[in-house]
Amino acid sequence: TEAEIRNVIKQDSISKEEIEKEKQQAAEFAAQQIPNHITLGLGSGTTSAYFVKAIQKRIVNEKLDIQCVATSLGTQKLAESLHMNMLDVNTIDEVDITVDGADSVDDKLNGIKGGGAALLFEKLVAKMSKKNIWIVDSTKYHKTLEGRQMPVEVIPFGGMGVFRYLRDNGYHPAFRFEDNGDILETDSGNYLINITIPKHADLKDLAKNLKNQTGVVEHGLFLNVCDELIIGGDQIKTIKRE
Ligand code: 5RP
Repeated sequence: TEAEIRNVIKQDSISKEEIEKEKQQAAEFAAQQIPNHITLGLGSGTTSAYFVKAIQKRIVNEKLDIQCVATSLGTQKLAESLHMNMLDVNTIDEVDITVDGADSVDDKLNGIKGGGAALLFEKLVAKMSKKNIWIVDSTKYHKTLEGRQMPVEVIPFGGMGVFRYLRDNGYHPAFRFEDNGDILETDSGNYLINITIPKHADLKDLAKNLKNQTGVVEHGLFLNVCDELIIGGDQIKTIKRE
């Protein structure tokens, strides 16, 4: 309801420590929901890392038979370091459940992902998944995605052409850089251009438009993907897609 949304949005001013706690709460809650004998997609980012550690504990303690597929090289490395049973994504047809984080989610469970630069693998695994659960802290939940930043992944060759298209159409593009000043390269060796979602944008049209640009590999808009959103907090909130 409106009141519930306002209640969650109100927490926008919480401290870094509280955000971290909420991420962990959401991740641990999600880990408790995972059934045995499944193929599990492991998301990327800091919230997903909490989830990977939490589900790994359950797998060991309860001797669960769960096979996993990672959505980034970083997650693959983390899961391997924890001796989890990892599958090559090309050897499976589908994933039962994927648990992933998100950068922004609206009240219809449309989301923006890619803050950790893993949007391409994340979308691939999400599309193979029968169920997608997102785990977030309360600052990620918004009434609308308007005005929010989202990444567009482009091939390096001709990436400037896409940049010009985005600039000329009012998306305020900016290439994403590493802290050391190098241009950021994704796990696939592509570049990311951050854009701002315009006011009153039709998200479906925007998604289609971006995909239509030659040189665009993928974008961070995830529409009709999230089936269940888990928001951390002392009282966990779960929102299911209608
Ligand atoms: C990575 C992602 C992440 O899920 C998203 O950026 C959230 O990250 P975090 O859990 O660290 O806040 O989409 O590409």
